[in-house]
Amino acid sequence: MNRMQLEPEDERVLAGEEGETRQRMLELLVALGKVFGAEQLVRIRSAQVSGASYKTIGEYGLQWLSTLDARAVVPAVLNPIGMPRGRWQEMGVDEDFAQKQQAVVAAYERLGIGLECTCTPYYLHETGFGDHLAWSESSAVSYANSVIGARTNREGGPGALAAALVGKTPCYGLHLAKNRRPQLVIRVQADTRDWSIAHFGALGYHAGKLAGNRIPFFSGITPDRDQLKALGAAMAATGAVALYHVEGITPEAVKVPFDLGGLETITVESDEIRHLFKEIPVEAVAVGCPHCSPAELEEIARLLKGKLVTMPLYVFAAQGVIEANQRVADTIEKSGARVFADTCMVVSPVMEQYEAIMVNSGKALAYVPDMCAAVARIGTIEECVKVATE
Ligand code: F3S
Repeated sequence: MNRMQLEPEDERVLAGEEGETRQRMLELLVALGKVFGAEQLVRIRSAQVSGASYKTIGEYGLQWLSTLDARAVVPAVLNPIGMPRGRWQEMGVDEDFAQKQQAVVAAYERLGIGLECTCTPYYLHETGFGDHLAWSESSAVSYANSVIGARTNREGGPGALAAALVGKTPCYGLHLAKNRRPQLVIRVQADTRDWSIAHFGALGYHAGKLAGNRIPFFSGITPDRDQLKALGAAMAATGAVALYHVEGITPEAVKVPFDLGGLETITVESDEIRHLFKEIPVEAVAVGCPHCSPAELEEIARLLKGKLVTMPLYVFAAQGVIEANQRVADTIEKSGARVFADTCMVVSPVMEQYEAIMVNSGKALAYVPDMCAAVARIGTIEECVKVATE
């Protein structure tokens, strides 16, 4: 029995009155809702669509996109693609790949998806507490749910695209307050006052394995927003954590009186984090996973000022963030480092040329070995710049 309540406008779309693509997309959302027991659809404020790199979707995905004919009805952005659109030659991307990637981008553009190819859409489009979203990329989902207090499941590429074209998503999972309560307490027993973004990424790398798909509640840490971004991104990579809370810091931990009684509690000590920082030789350094914030770009520029890189140093950020901080990006590039938009160290095929890559991200530490077939080393941003310039 279909228990999902649909509005008259949805019935019209399902009857094909607004074209075949919107009809197929709404059918997909209704089918998803039935699988997950949703009782209704909910209007979304924005969508973030994965399946954007030709490296991941290939020819089949490109052909499927080319069959669609509708326009997004809410602000929607793409996940990072396999190359910086305007500078792919400079990055050394193969021409055949570039043409295929451009075809994928053109297909999304035709559908009205914004070409800000980023995993940090929250720096570009206002997203607020309680907003319902249909976002795909795991770190963006984690940030939206945990740091902003918005509500999104981790959508697959087609589900997010369907939501962008319809303006709604099935209301289940993390859209419902009852599913957002902590399921595990992680007590960090360490002096974290000198911890960097990389340390919180390493904590996330470790904690994701402990949490699996549970919602952790952290105590004993006071991360800032960039550190929260790193923590959540890594937990979504080594676990399937789409929402976490930090005592006294994240909005729901502050506003909602969670009952932690009876929850499993795991203690994490500083040695478990510090041993991840191994000094191994690398051939390239890549930072900006997730894409850099303005503050992270400024920090990199400050550290690079007056220096020249002696090995490739890649910095990744959203195009809009780079444009708004162009002088900072120029300072970074004066050193020989490159600040690239649209892509990242994991989705670009270019990183596959290196056998060992240094990162300051727990998520990249987890993904680089599989996605780039390279050894990954994690270090602080100071250490990354030192290695790239010594
Ligand atoms: Fe973003 Fe790529 Fe990292 S999508 S989170 S920079 S792997």
